[in-house]
Amino acid sequence: MRKKIISYGRHLIDQADIDAVTEALQSGWLTGGPAIVAFEEAVARLCGAAHAVAVCNGTAALHCAMHALRVAPGDEVIVPPMTFCATANAVVYQGGEPVFADVAPGTLLLDPASVEASLTPRTKGIVAVDYAGQPCDYDALRAIADAHGLFLAADACHSLGGAWNGRPVGSLADVTCLSFHPVKHITTGEGGMILCDDPLLAETMRRFRNHGIDADPARRAEQGVWRYDMGFLGHNYRITDIQCALGGSQLDKLPQWLTRRREVAAMYAQALRNMADVSPLEEVPGATHALHLYVVRIASRPKPLRDAVLSGLRARGVQANVHYVPANRHSYYRQRLGDGASGTPVCDKAFEEILSLPMHAGLTDEDVRHVLWALGEALLEARA
Ligand SMILES: Cc1ncc(COP(=O)(O)O)c(C=O)c1O
Repeated sequence: MRKKIISYGRHLIDQADIDAVTEALQSGWLTGGPAIVAFEEAVARLCGAAHAVAVCNGTAALHCAMHALRVAPGDEVIVPPMTFCATANAVVYQGGEPVFADVAPGTLLLDPASVEASLTPRTKGIVAVDYAGQPCDYDALRAIADAHGLFLAADACHSLGGAWNGRPVGSLADVTCLSFHPVKHITTGEGGMILCDDPLLAETMRRFRNHGIDADPARRAEQGVWRYDMGFLGHNYRITDIQCALGGSQLDKLPQWLTRRREVAAMYAQALRNMADVSPLEEVPGATHALHLYVVRIASRPKPLRDAVLSGLRARGVQANVHYVPANRHSYYRQRLGDGASGTPVCDKAFEEILSLPMHAGLTDEDVRHVLWALGEALLEARA
């Protein structure tokens, strides 16, 4: 039995990353300094956004966005259930109510028809999630948002480097939220960012990450002023220069890492064509998939196989995973929503069948072959 465990997602650190962090440690700025601004500017440039605000994680990015977009008690915000719970939680932090619209069966991305059906006079906005790394149909979602005077936010924690009809993720919604957790495309240890074009939204989010205070220490030092004012209640969602130095160095490698993810996906897709009971999610024309996750559906007829296949993979050193327990199936949201039917049957069914195969830039061809062998064996065992 092979000893190596192949995880579903994993960061890569090279000497350039270590050098960048060392330089930040020696620079005199541990936080609030130039490495943060440099990282913000680099990501904004890459993603076609005018402004970027770096924060301590993706959840904080979503919270900053919901605050700046003025989500308040009484407001409803439409979100997909097939996401990490943080997407919906950010609405609740602001006192709003997440309304779960269903996803499309082929892609598990927010279904515009279900969004339409979920609108009420209290709807304030939509948070689209680029599940697994595939950008949503931002044209359809934008049309709904504009027709009803709603904001459109993107939870792009999976889709850095992706695009929709040639437009990069970061330029597709009013605000776009990123995560730099180690399983994501690039990492800062923990970290996140919000991208937008509106300077007022950006300024509000900068203040929100710093308690609601009107100027950060670097700017006060630059302007020679010491007075400051806390105009509204914010949080300490700041990120450090040490983390952003790592992020900047990681960003340099994003193109080559995306290429490797595509190569791995092509190997999987090719092999899965000949494997019964396993099908990858659909790729939509117009979407440039960033391939954060490689999600497959395991047939559940004549009997459910997913759990047994997952165990079989793990027994063979493949740390496959399930993304996600739908946000509206967690007990917190079940209680909040009244514990009845979810109202999202497509997502419920998908949840019984999905499994994420390992997908990251550090996978070798041999790793991929091992995953595919293990999948074949696990399927045979599960069907028996
Ligand atoms: C879709 C989605 N949204 C939000 C988050 C939250 O990001 P973080 O873990 O950086 O807070 C994640 C992270 O897993 C995510 O996958």
